[in-house]
Amino acid sequence: MKLSPPQIALSLVFGFFLTLLGAFWAIQVVRTPPPGDVVDPMRLNLSEFRDLGLHQQADGTYLLRVVAKQWVYDIGQPRDTPARIQIPTGSTLHIVATSMDVVHTLQLPGYPQQTAIPGRISRNIYQFSTPGNFITVCSEYCGPKHHEMTIIIEVTATP
Ligand code: CUA
Repeated sequence: MKLSPPQIALSLVFGFFLTLLGAFWAIQVVRTPPPGDVVDPMRLNLSEFRDLGLHQQADGTYLLRVVAKQWVYDIGQPRDTPARIQIPTGSTLHIVATSMDVVHTLQLPGYPQQTAIPGRISRNIYQFSTPGNFITVCSEYCGPKHHEMTIIIEVTATP
């Protein structure tokens, strides 16, 4: 079958819209958080984020709950001081994060970027097999003091 020029034009336009529809659908799928990973940023005190900071869990791993905000990672420390935690070598650290204002990220070299988005809960797992200070940075520009957003993870030599 040979298509006439108007038919070719029509199928090109149709194909274009199909592609657009597919892309839109894909973006929606990516953006839709899995159930259970949403939180009301206005009511963090009614969520698991009412209990910020570092907790040792029954299985020996550590859990750190963090609320990112301009321009600090709030782990329950005094206002405007950088977040700092201490865990022993060999620790597994689960970081659970959200944001109460804009999009921040939590980036530790060697790990996938953890994105803190208002309304969403993000979870990453980190392993520390050597002692030292490990520092996360915010790699999403979030305002004038963006570069001050760090978490210092001090991994001690002795358990
Ligand atoms: Cu927070 Cu950049």
